[in-house]
Amino acid sequence: MKARILVIDDDAVACEFLQEVLQRDGYDVGTFTCAQTALKQNLAEYDLLMSDIRMPGMDGLQFLGEIQKKWPNLPVILMTAYGSLETTMEAIRLGAWDYISKPFSPEECRVLVKKVLELRELRKRRSNGPMEAIEEAKLIGSSSAMVEFYKQIARVADSPASVLIEGESGTGKELTARSLHSMSPRRLKPFVVVHCGAIPDNLLESELFGYEKGSFTGADHQHVGLIESAEGGTIFLDEITEMSTALQSKFLRFMQDGEVRRIGGHDVCHVAVRVVAAANKNVDEEVAAGRFRLDLLYRFIVRLRIPPLRDRRVDIPLLIEVMLKKLGYPDARVSPEAMELLMAYDWPGNVRELENVLQQTLLLSPFVVILPENLPDRFRGKREVKKGVDLPEMTPLEEAEREQIVQTLKKTDWNQSKAAGILGIDRKTLRMKIRRYGLQDDKQEN
Ligand SMILES: Nc1ncnc2c1ncn2[C@@H]1O[C@H](COP(=O)(O)OP(=O)(O)OP(=O)(O)O)[C@@H](O)[C@H]1O
Ligand SMILES: [Mg+2]
Repeated sequence: MKARILVIDDDAVACEFLQEVLQRDGYDVGTFTCAQTALKQNLAEYDLLMSDIRMPGMDGLQFLGEIQKKWPNLPVILMTAYGSLETTMEAIRLGAWDYISKPFSPEECRVLVKKVLELRELRKRRSNGPMEAIEEAKLIGSSSAMVEFYKQIARVADSPASVLIEGESGTGKELTARSLHSMSPRRLKPFVVVHCGAIPDNLLESELFGYEKGSFTGADHQHVGLIESAEGGTIFLDEITEMSTALQSKFLRFMQDGEVRRIGGHDVCHVAVRVVAAANKNVDEEVAAGRFRLDLLYRFIVRLRIPPLRDRRVDIPLLIEVMLKKLGYPDARVSPEAMELLMAYDWPGNVRELENVLQQTLLLSPFVVILPENLPDRFRGKREVKKGVDLPEMTPLEEAEREQIVQTLKKTDWNQSKAAGILGIDRKTLRMKIRRYGLQDDKQEN
């Protein structure tokens, strides 16, 4: 069926231009020169809206807000002649699927429309799934890098092909593996996670393949391995590069013929599981260094690489919005200044780090608006308070706490009872923390 697209632009010539371009690509295209009039229609009949931002009467962002209320799943592309970062961020924050800066070429427009319609298909399929897991396993991000990534996931999800997911730590490799599973026909079958890096090698072998009673000291009962227990589903090998090369070759044999023989057993059984693995080390380097078997690498039909967060910063506002809801602070907002810092930061720990930062920040300053001073030190580049004696290594949470205490003390001019009151702890605890973190009033020091 032809996809139906609605164009809203106060400039009738722009409407016609888009209509022509898109009709040539076989879409059914309607136009309106006024957002209010468009809102009176049943827009659920459309697959995609393209709206100008600057319009007299109701502008594109307000229009988008109304759409989000009435038809939250309807994709909207905003068009703007003033392609500023702020407008873009605001548009994405409000739920636009993408945006395009005017003037644009017919080709740019075509590519974008196709991309958004594909993404819509992908999301539709995902939300039609029978299990909650699908909702849980939700990758967020509308950057072109992520959209490209979703497309790749969509292409391979249905097939039983083995997949190797590569990406820096915290980029969402496990989440991707779960998405692959929940979008596949095996979604109702088990999804078994094996943390290869966390289990000693000999134990890993018996966990994966299982063992028969009496096969080694301590094997006092028969044990079904994780591979067998994933029958019909997906086995997810996290940090696969951490497997010893010996175990790698044993696993390779399983991937070749799908057969499992329990340790100490005679019979082999055939197991149909899909193998998905993740690595945050550079797999090619591991191969070159002789730590990862090339023949095992070749057993992975598909390699997916998740882009690091710093390469898709436009996703940050949306991620934050969703995470604030998830963390139970649906009304919290990030001030524009704080957002600027968050957007400028490099995120070595990627999405997980972002999640941590929000968690810490909200825990220590559960205010409605997150300001730059609520963020951990590292976001402001320079350390504002001298460290006293050599401080013990601090966890990120401790660092955030220390930072919060410093800020509060500064604000209260080092009035400890006021500061304790603001922080919601008693004075004794505050004094203890001041000592623990080696804090000093700069003025008194001099
Ligand atoms: N695109 C994303 N959208 C929403 N949440 C995400 C996204 N990517 C990661 N997360 C969240 O960030 C956290 C880390 O994700 P995940 O565990 O999948 O990363 P990972 O790549 O496996 O990390 P590691 O290499 O450290 O094991 C999880 O809480 C996950 O829900
Ligand atoms: Mg992981």
